Amino acid sequence: MYRIVSAQFLAENIKKIEIEAPRIAKKRNAGQFVMIRVDESGERVPLTIADSNPEKGTITIIVQGMGKTTRELNSKNTGDTITDVVGPLGAPSHIEKFGTVVSIGGGVGTAIAYPTAVALKKAGNYVITINGARSKDLVILEKEMTTVSDEAYITTDDGSYGFHGFVTQKLQELIDSGRTIDYVLAIGPIPMMKAIAEVTRPYHIKTVVSLNPIMVDGTGMCGGCRVTVDKQIKFACVDGPEFDAHLVDFKNLSDRNKIYLPEEKQSAEAYVHRCNLIKSV
Ligand SMILES: Cc1cc2nc3c(=O)[nH]c(=O)nc-3n(C[C@H](O)[C@H](O)[C@H](O)COP(=O)(O)OP(=O)(O)OC[C@H]3O[C@@H](n4cnc5c(N)ncnc54)[C@H](O)[C@@H]3O)c2cc1C
Ligand code: FES
Repeated sequence: MYRIVSAQFLAENIKKIEIEAPRIAKKRNAGQFVMIRVDESGERVPLTIADSNPEKGTITIIVQGMGKTTRELNSKNTGDTITDVVGPLGAPSHIEKFGTVVSIGGGVGTAIAYPTAVALKKAGNYVITINGARSKDLVILEKEMTTVSDEAYITTDDGSYGFHGFVTQKLQELIDSGRTIDYVLAIGPIPMMKAIAEVTRPYHIKTVVSLNPIMVDGTGMCGGCRVTVDKQIKFACVDGPEFDAHLVDFKNLSDRNKIYLPEEKQSAEAYVHRCNLIKSV
């Protein structure tokens, strides 16, 4: 059992959860994730280690409530326990001194990009961050991102805060200003990562994305997380989750992620129904 040391919402439906997991806290590197099973009957879901505190023996995850498991996790509070936390898993982010790097996060992708942005800054890069959200109330980690950045930009789709528009438009603006950009990291919804890849492709800017296929074991055994990169099959849980954005087959990823949509919908509806029943007694 893994004890939750603290838990608070950062925005509607997005919760920051600090969990006691001393061995993982000691070993983890930027870009790695854990597989979590909330209770005995639960499914396993992958969640990025957003931060860790080896002295305190804790790791932090930032979770967007999408379906049954993430909503169940987000209903947990300080002092509650989680059945399984396995990790650190996945290949660490490739970190070196590239020069000027742009770290782009869309929605909860900002939390996934954060540890890598920290590591890129530590390696001596000039770090520009662009973090996008649909509206001001959904912006997360603004203070943390500003602290790690030499330049930080927020974009909102509705213009309620920061730059009015998409992260792609802000990136294009930076490129058009004529400055040199050596490396781009983009993490967020599949259409966003694909669009970023198309922005940087004509300029041959090295661009890396963190892929989010469905994972079951997270250790390279089941093949569930199969992705196509440079026309080759890769397992995102062991070969990734970060890959060269210009070589990823995003359509294949998007199609594969839709395979279980009816079951996911049914499971989420049953969870909401159960919660409503519990509330009414
Ligand atoms: C390496 C990696 C790191 C991730 N890090 C984070 C993070 O830090 N914070 C965060 O909020 N989310 C993260 N995700 C996404 C998160 O795992 C999914 O939102 C979660 O699994 C959804 O499960 P659910 O039961 O709540 O929703 P469901 O209703 O079951 O699914 C909603 C959608 O989530 C995806 N999904 C479902 N099951 C899985 C699974 N077992 N593995 C992967 N994707 C799945 C599918 O695209 C699905 O359509 C990460 C995904 C990957 C692959
Ligand atoms: S999750 Fe099973 S092989 Fe990657």
